[in-house]
Amino acid sequence: MLDLEFVRGQFPAFAEPSLEGWAFFENAGGSYTCQPVIDRLTRFYHQRKVQPYAPYPASEAGGAEMDEARSRLAGLLGVETDELSFGPSTTQNTYVLAQAFRQRMMPGEAIVVTNQDHEANSGPWRRLADDGIEIREWKIDPETGHLDPAALEKLLDEKVRLVCFPHCSNVVGEINPVREITALAHAAGAWVCVDGVSYAPHGFPDVGELGCDIYLFSAYKTYGPHQGIMVMRRALGEALPNQAHFFNGDTLYKKFTPAGPDHAQVAASAGMVDYIEALAAHEGVAPREVAGLMHAHEVTLMQPLLDFLGNRNSVRLLGPRDAAHRAPTVAVALQGPAEAAARALAEHGIMAGGSDFYAVRPLQAMGVDPAMGVLRLSFVHYTAQHEVEKLIEALDRVL
Ligand SMILES: Cc1ncc(COP(=O)(O)O)c(C=O)c1O
Repeated sequence: MLDLEFVRGQFPAFAEPSLEGWAFFENAGGSYTCQPVIDRLTRFYHQRKVQPYAPYPASEAGGAEMDEARSRLAGLLGVETDELSFGPSTTQNTYVLAQAFRQRMMPGEAIVVTNQDHEANSGPWRRLADDGIEIREWKIDPETGHLDPAALEKLLDEKVRLVCFPHCSNVVGEINPVREITALAHAAGAWVCVDGVSYAPHGFPDVGELGCDIYLFSAYKTYGPHQGIMVMRRALGEALPNQAHFFNGDTLYKKFTPAGPDHAQVAASAGMVDYIEALAAHEGVAPREVAGLMHAHEVTLMQPLLDFLGNRNSVRLLGPRDAAHRAPTVAVALQGPAEAAARALAEHGIMAGGSDFYAVRPLQAMGVDPAMGVLRLSFVHYTAQHEVEKLIEALDRVL
């Protein structure tokens, strides 16, 4: 069982006077930052804020810390160090990747996208239709938001070069079976790009074991700084054309990062691993096992919330009602604008959002008006039971 006091002690937000009395339920938008990341960021700006990789101590320390961040994150994710790179955001990373595929693919070849994805892993690929690439949509069930792998099988043939889907949607919350889907796509000769943004905060996955070719997530939602993290497995990375300066094209971790990264934030990302390792040591488990502890805690807290919302006639709960199959990113469609409900919740000390959350396609597919949006209640492993109880009480008054 997670020692929540230890966990919350690693996040300064829980000791911040201006946040006292507030329960945070917009974690899917961006999580609180852990102490080691803040410490590293502060140290970088104080001591190392010079051009890295030059032959003087401040610069060497900065460059070494950037390398450390990549190698330790890659280790946590089960991939090689040069298979991990940073970009300004996941959206920016997919745009760069789509450009690389645009140059490599021929008219008549096909890409599979879903209507469950956040726009970041959807629109950039769909735009390849302008170049004669066929876009095939793997559609969700309009009632449940579920993506059925059997439906994907029907879309796969020798024309498909790439299958893009989310590990977990930011409004449906269901955890998709990445390994199974990847195996289907690979068997048909297609590469696989997974948007892990909504999943990674609930336990950094073993990307090597999942088997996908690209795995993307955003550090600012995983207790870190505002960076996009991209895993590009070597075989695909070598097959795609360079998107960086011509002389950087032979270095895998530079090849899909056209612009210079934010040095301080890259270095500070090592703090995300500091945190996971500290938590693992405190709990007496291996760092990879932390994900299981997080999941167990989240499921325990989530089920009463799902039960409450599922029994409320005035709201429509999106995604599975069984906490074991989903992340605690819980969206509900209301009879009125969701933003108004979020505003009303704020009166009760709840931080939540009401919006389309850039999941316009999934909402439309489920018959939800994006202009009304959904009220999204999202939490992570540092959330406490008393906060979920406070949320349910507030929802009882507001909905
Ligand atoms: C599931 C999902 N994918 C992608 C993104 C885009 O990430 P970024 O803000 O890093 O571009 C988000 C952001 O909310 C998201 O929730």
